[in-house]
Amino acid sequence: MEQAFSMVMREHLEESGGFWVAVSDSVYESQYCILERKEMACTVGDVIEGSYYYRIIRKIADGGMGSVYEVEQQGAEGFVKRIALKTIIRRYTKDKAFVDMFIGEAKLVANLVHPNIVQIYQLGRTTENFFIAMEYIDGITLEQFLQRHYDERRKIPLNLATFIVSRICRGLEYAHTKTDRLSRPLSIVHRDVSPKNILINTEGECKLTDFGIAKARNYMEQDEERVLMGKVEYMSPEQANYRITDARSDLFSLGIVYAELLTGNNEFIGADTRGTLELVRKAVLPDIKQERPDIPQEIVNIVNKALQRDPLQRYQTATDMVLDLEYQMYSKGYGPTIASLAKYTAELFPKRNFAASKRAPLHSG
Ligand SMILES: Nc1ncnc2c1ncn2[C@@H]1O[C@H](COP(=O)(O)OP(=O)(O)OP(=O)(O)O)[C@@H](O)[C@H]1O
Ligand SMILES: [Mg+2]
Repeated sequence: MEQAFSMVMREHLEESGGFWVAVSDSVYESQYCILERKEMACTVGDVIEGSYYYRIIRKIADGGMGSVYEVEQQGAEGFVKRIALKTIIRRYTKDKAFVDMFIGEAKLVANLVHPNIVQIYQLGRTTENFFIAMEYIDGITLEQFLQRHYDERRKIPLNLATFIVSRICRGLEYAHTKTDRLSRPLSIVHRDVSPKNILINTEGECKLTDFGIAKARNYMEQDEERVLMGKVEYMSPEQANYRITDARSDLFSLGIVYAELLTGNNEFIGADTRGTLELVRKAVLPDIKQERPDIPQEIVNIVNKALQRDPLQRYQTATDMVLDLEYQMYSKGYGPTIASLAKYTAELFPKRNFAASKRAPLHSG
């Protein structure tokens, strides 16, 4: 069917001198789009050179590996698209092994397209720097969301905490099971699931960002003989022990995020980085009921299963975990949605006054 469609389309266009270009190989209806009538036809494999450039609008924040900017991507005839651009600081990009690892990971995650993952558009380079162009998120980080509750001494509603974690779990499920074109597993692991890397937009959509970045960064930090400087308090025990990690490590990190959303605390934070590493390696289960007696045992069981020190005792896949989360939310009827999260977040940040929050705002307006 697909082939027949493209044959007919191609013959028709070639007969009439049409100009066509492949825009997608997955949705056959949009497989070809007619750009304009021309003498010459363009065939698969041709390279179309276009011109566009990025105009920096404002710096959003400085992060661990560089800065994030709000940028306008400018195309032909006044076409403008708002995107985010992350630059990688030069100190990192001077190291060839880092660059190789960074580029390797970026290629691996280039085709992750899912509603719960911040999409990457481009890995680019200027004469001296690398940058990543990605989907712009108009919203807040989960860290800001947590901070606002902390400042106002509020508890996050159970259903919304579960909803946020379930959406990120869906994003992980997609990434963990992603295969290449020949159906070979890509074995993608995020390695840095933490509130800073979870964004909530104004529509209430939750998105995990920075896929593929942690591996290269951790490499640099070990290379510099510093103790793992990343977000140690969200690491899995095997990660904190410098062991090889797999998808189950991300589920442990997500378990820490879930426990923090429920109680307002991350029990793995120690007096200093070494103390935190010790706590993560021991992985003593947090006492959720003590902080919040209202949390049902079924939810505590989910957190405890995600936080098992031994990966074999944990959820083995994101699918297993997300099914438990969704059962808790939806088995009794109507449950939380992006609309309820959007409404709640808008009330939490009235007039988008993020300035009142201690941490750097996503949006200054
Ligand atoms: N796609 C995006 N759209 C809008 N804002 C973003 C986007 N990505 C990141 N940000 C903002 O930029 C900030 C910095 O992000 P960045 O990933 O560089 O650092 P980080 O997450 O704080 O630390 P790390 O370097 O460990 O990931 C985030 O906290 C968020 O406020
Ligand atoms: Mg980040």
